[in-house]
Amino acid sequence: MILLVNGPNLNLLGEREPHLYGTTTLAEIENSVRETCAAYGVEVKAFQSNCEGALIDFLQANRREAQGVIANLGALTHTSYALHDCFRSLPCPVLEVHLSNTQAREEWRHRSVVAPATRGQIVGLGPHGYRFAAEWLCLQIPGVADGKEPDEAAPGPRRPPAARGEYE
Ligand code: DQA
Repeated sequence: MILLVNGPNLNLLGEREPHLYGTTTLAEIENSVRETCAAYGVEVKAFQSNCEGALIDFLQANRREAQGVIANLGALTHTSYALHDCFRSLPCPVLEVHLSNTQAREEWRHRSVVAPATRGQIVGLGPHGYRFAAEWLCLQIPGVADGKEPDEAAPGPRRPPAARGEYE
């Protein structure tokens, strides 16, 4: 299972400063991550909160099932040592995502205090960043992809094999 965590003010995506964050809503982002992971047969549990402690509680409560975490902590990225420590305590990779290019904005956004506890960051690619993060995390799960294309990797009904000569 992949955990998708969004922090303060990200519930307002779509209406919040669209020139910076675009018009895609959080529900749309969550759906696109679910679709990406479904192609690998991987489930997603999504959570958004404006409260630091609620985010930590969610991550702790789901830590045993988590095979990867996608996290956009909003402004908590720049301040929360508590979430840094929480990431460190998780037994799976954490990817940090930001819709905007935080390095090209105000100086106080340049520093992520959680980054040292993550496997990597994807910034500035808008909602696509979440999908790319999902794709990479699914590929890390042992036995999920094994070099297969996403649709082949998904469990459940498959297309029947093509009859001989069907594509000739
Ligand atoms: C953000 C960048 C943060 O600096 C900001 O506080 C946000 C959104 C992003 O996705 O670009 O709330 O995390």
